[in-house]
Amino acid sequence: MHIIANWKMNGTRASAKAWAETVSKSGAVQSKVNAVLCPPAVIIRDAASAAGSHLAIGAQDCHHEPKGAYTGELSAPMLQEEGASYVILGHSERRLFCHELCDLVNKKAVAASKAGLTPIICIGETLEEREKGETLSTIRRQLEYSLPKEVSDYIIAYEPVWAIGTGKTPTLENIAEVHATIEEVVRVHQLTGDTSTPVVYGGSVNPANAASILALPQVHGALVGGASLEAASFIAICEAASGVVS
Ligand code: PGA
Repeated sequence: MHIIANWKMNGTRASAKAWAETVSKSGAVQSKVNAVLCPPAVIIRDAASAAGSHLAIGAQDCHHEPKGAYTGELSAPMLQEEGASYVILGHSERRLFCHELCDLVNKKAVAASKAGLTPIICIGETLEEREKGETLSTIRRQLEYSLPKEVSDYIIAYEPVWAIGTGKTPTLENIAEVHATIEEVVRVHQLTGDTSTPVVYGGSVNPANAASILALPQVHGALVGGASLEAASFIAICEAASGVVS
């Protein structure tokens, strides 16, 4: 079960160090949960040096080329060298504010994987798509174009855009239905028949709703934004997760 903290553009070196030390000591993190902290890239090294062996560090984006004339960008090998072992790709905020499309997310996932980072590929429908009854077709389309053919070691994060930072979540039935669809598409895409790709849910996960969402058999973890900033609430979510891991 992966519980991933997405700090977005928040945090300082000091807060990341303190958070990583506290979370690393949590019993839930030390036993059953794969905890990952994705802080801003400039804090990765500090977070990694404060993290115990049960807390992994991730980045929030990477470029699709390993190096070159791309002013302001960071490559996957650079992030790996700083101490990252995961990278969030195609988050809806990057799709919206940076105009990232699925084919770019796909290339980034290949680059990340080549550098030894596990991609966390984000997909999710907008409110408009949901209201038009297009949730599952949107998910299928995003998966078709975002998932690389040549890589199979990744995590998929289902994050309904309208649930991010809003305090709203889909019903448990809705979450289960979308995750089951994702699993089915991945099985066909990878031509393996195997279902080992973790599919995590993100969007307003908090200590109060985590246990019921994570208890769904189709949900293999959570990507947590706002409720991950405080170590105590992130640990509470990890404890909820460890309660449902056998
Ligand atoms: P949220 O963000 O938990 O604040 O809704 C989740 C995310 O954007 O990954």
